[in-house]
Amino acid sequence: MYRVCLLTADAGADGSALYENPDLLGHIYVGPYIVGQPEFAFVIADDAGIAGYVLGAADTRKFEGWQEQEWWPALRSQYPLYSGTSLDDELVSHFHSPETAPDSVIELYPAHLHIDLLPRAQGKGLGRVMLETLFAALRECGVPGIHLGVGEDNHNAIAFYRHLGFTELARGTDSIYMGMELS
Ligand SMILES: CC(C)(COP(=O)(O)OP(=O)(O)OC[C@H]1O[C@@H](n2cnc3c(N)ncnc32)[C@H](O)[C@@H]1OP(=O)(O)O)[C@@H](O)C(=O)NCCC(=O)NCCS
Repeated sequence: MYRVCLLTADAGADGSALYENPDLLGHIYVGPYIVGQPEFAFVIADDAGIAGYVLGAADTRKFEGWQEQEWWPALRSQYPLYSGTSLDDELVSHFHSPETAPDSVIELYPAHLHIDLLPRAQGKGLGRVMLETLFAALRECGVPGIHLGVGEDNHNAIAFYRHLGFTELARGTDSIYMGMELS
């Protein structure tokens, strides 16, 4: 799952060349979800291995709190803050001061998600199936809405989310928050 994250990290394309340490991204976008919210983690796999995942957190604020207690401390010890300017350094600084979703987004859309499929799994309807699977699990827990952050240059993903009913909620530095009601 960490490798799927890296192989889709450059606006949906292979990001391996961008990062020296191949695990840093996964420590942010994969690891805490499968450890902290395994009931909202789904993968697809074929004979070649894991081909994609969708990962959700039902209550983003609560999940952020859990990360502060259980996830970031070990990574902060392993990767001390270093004032470099590489993309790896940016990810390490994220471990030390993680970005949190704005209150205006959380209020109506308390859950959030990450979805990534390798090229061999894309364009076959699996992205829709995976999101609908996650939405069903969240609805069962009474979650009223969900948001996500997408890079503003990831035009394919933005169009996919719009097609599935997400609308733009807010803008970050180089990302867009999108949301959808689940009830
Ligand atoms: C974005 C992504 C999750 C979409 O998953 P997918 O399996 O390729 O999409 P699907 O085949 O399930 O498409 C579902 C629907 O969205 C539509 N769709 C997909 N891409 C679209 C696009 N670029 N524009 C408009 N509609 C699109 C499909 O036509 C399909 O419509 P239908 O179900 O009404 O017939 C997948 O391509 C991916 O993982 N890309 C690389 C990583 C990435 O960018 N992740 C998002 C990071 S924020």
